[in-house]
Amino acid sequence: MQNRSMQQRIQVRNPIVIALDVDTAREAIDLAHRLRGTVGMFKVGKQLFTASGPSVVRELLAMGEKVFLDLKFHDIPNTVAKAGIEAARMGVSIFNLHALGGSQMMRTTVEAVEEVCQREQITRPLILGVTVLTSHSRESLLEVGIEQEIPAEVVRLAQLCASSGVDGVVASPHEIGPIRTAVTSPDFTVLTPGVRPAGAALNDQQRVMTPGEAIRAGADFLVIGRPITAAPDPLAAAEAIRQEIEEARQP
Ligand code: C5P
Repeated sequence: MQNRSMQQRIQVRNPIVIALDVDTAREAIDLAHRLRGTVGMFKVGKQLFTASGPSVVRELLAMGEKVFLDLKFHDIPNTVAKAGIEAARMGVSIFNLHALGGSQMMRTTVEAVEEVCQREQITRPLILGVTVLTSHSRESLLEVGIEQEIPAEVVRLAQLCASSGVDGVVASPHEIGPIRTAVTSPDFTVLTPGVRPAGAALNDQQRVMTPGEAIRAGADFLVIGRPITAAPDPLAAAEAIRQEIEEARQP
């Protein structure tokens, strides 16, 4: 079942999403200039967005690049829906929200973004749910009143995302298998960080997979930061990962 749904999924042309975890727009744009053409998308997260605002996103888009706006929205339904509409108007390809915001928040956002995109004739971004942050432990979840084991909670929230109309989830590579088993729609998108080429430094990541393993496990997009951005030659590092992905995709 899992293999069948994987075969039916439309392959993303270049699944590498570069995490632009840098302090300034200048550094982000320089990196994007070095890597454009070899990677598929650039991720702008809370650090860069708080420092530089939407202008860095607009600059990346003006270069013809695709952007994943990783702001993990979590608020009342109306506020998240309005933020999602502005993300869509900005022209990002993906944005995300917390599944813990609940089904009403997710459904309201998907519907509002869909409606505005149709009316204004803009491409609707993919909307992904964040299930359980990988920084959580069993204890820290208990602290906030969640008694389930983490893997079961991740799968439960992925199912909630799917039934709320959200397009997919952000998940650790080790969670892809259980998520694909629980949510069988071939259109459900899984984007995964925690990717490390064989032999690369783990940094603060713990349960990693290589790019090839993550693709074979069913990932649609791989978020990769330091193995590329901190490499002596980022372009060569990105190119090696791209080749590894191509090989993993061979039948
Ligand atoms: O440098 P590295 O490849 O570890 O960067 C991974 C990116 O993915 C970072 O931007 C990090 O915040 C993000 N991320 C993660 N683990 C998660 C969710 C997001 O590493 N569970």
